Amino acid sequence: MSERIPLAIPDLRGNESAYLARCVQDNWVSSAGPFVTECEKQIAALAGRAYAVASVNGTTALQLAMTAAGVKPGDHVVVPDWTFAATANAAHHAGAIPIFADVTEESWSLDPAVLEAILRDPPGRITAVLVVHVLGHPADVDPLLSLCRTAGIPLIEDAAGAIGARYKGRPVGGLGDMAIFSFNGNKTVTAGGGGMVVTDDESQAKRLRAISAQARSGAEYRYDEIGFNYRMTNLNAGVLLAQIERMEEMVAAKRRIAATYDRAVAGRNDMQPMPRTPWGESACWLYSVRCRGEAEARDLVQHMAEHDIEARTFWRTLSDQALYAHAPHRLTGVAAKLSGTVVSLPCSSSLTDEQQARVIAVLAKWPRRAGG
Ligand SMILES: Cc1ncc(COP(=O)(O)O)c(C=O)c1O
Repeated sequence: MSERIPLAIPDLRGNESAYLARCVQDNWVSSAGPFVTECEKQIAALAGRAYAVASVNGTTALQLAMTAAGVKPGDHVVVPDWTFAATANAAHHAGAIPIFADVTEESWSLDPAVLEAILRDPPGRITAVLVVHVLGHPADVDPLLSLCRTAGIPLIEDAAGAIGARYKGRPVGGLGDMAIFSFNGNKTVTAGGGGMVVTDDESQAKRLRAISAQARSGAEYRYDEIGFNYRMTNLNAGVLLAQIERMEEMVAAKRRIAATYDRAVAGRNDMQPMPRTPWGESACWLYSVRCRGEAEARDLVQHMAEHDIEARTFWRTLSDQALYAHAPHRLTGVAAKLSGTVVSLPCSSSLTDEQQARVIAVLAKWPRRAGG
């Protein structure tokens, strides 16, 4: 048996254990603490924003953003059809109805032409638009932003896995009215579990901070509104700070790994590398290839598994799943074609050249030939 190569694991080769030990020594293990404040400062700076508010994960960061954007029960929120459930669930948890919009072939993210059609003929009051930067590649934000500005609707970036990416030279997370990041264990930069909302609006930042901690005012048990308990702990922030210190190095490793895969799959007609566009500098979070169909994608995952290599099919569309069957949608067929056909390959920033060479050699043996 060869050594198993995992899909995307944390790369904890910096100050993580030292900072965790400091949390224990200094008795700062809960949601107040110097690492939380320092991470907020550093993530705001990385995204080119004035404010950042830390939360326990990307899912709760989205929920905080929905509330701060003023999304109310009965409202509608535009979300891409091809995304992680948390994006649409955030609208649902705010009492809103997601409107599933299709994505482009070019970047696999929200299609401006589809958004325009929705805004021209909305199924109800739309209070926010969520754009996802897919797999670490930026969406084409400018046309989306211009549509949202005209309609007077905030554009919120779901940059869960895209930290380090740039759009026309600007950092993702700094493009829309608000943005969120995830620092889950499978992300390039991890806190174990963690999230962040970033904004330039001071009053919005104050509200985000308040509702993330029960919206309690002062030391007495008085509340300004119905809040949440979503604050990141200092333990998670200790890990996150150590990761931020090595972020440039880890994003560079991800890009190197992606470029090597791109070369390896170039010219193949049975798989296509993940998007590259002239406007975007991808952070290459989770290197993925698009297969010709779902059966082939499953077979590729199986083939890799037989060689002790973890690969995984990526997102399925949400609009055709029972839980969202009631939701309005405007689809062009692109998301449906992507659904279940994209396969992610091992791409931890700690992946060695030897490990990647082994993955590429196994990829080259697929599709399996009779007796092969
Ligand atoms: C697009 C997107 N949004 C939101 C999330 C949720 O982040 P978390 O897992 O930190 O809650 C993820 C997680 O992978 C994601 O991919």
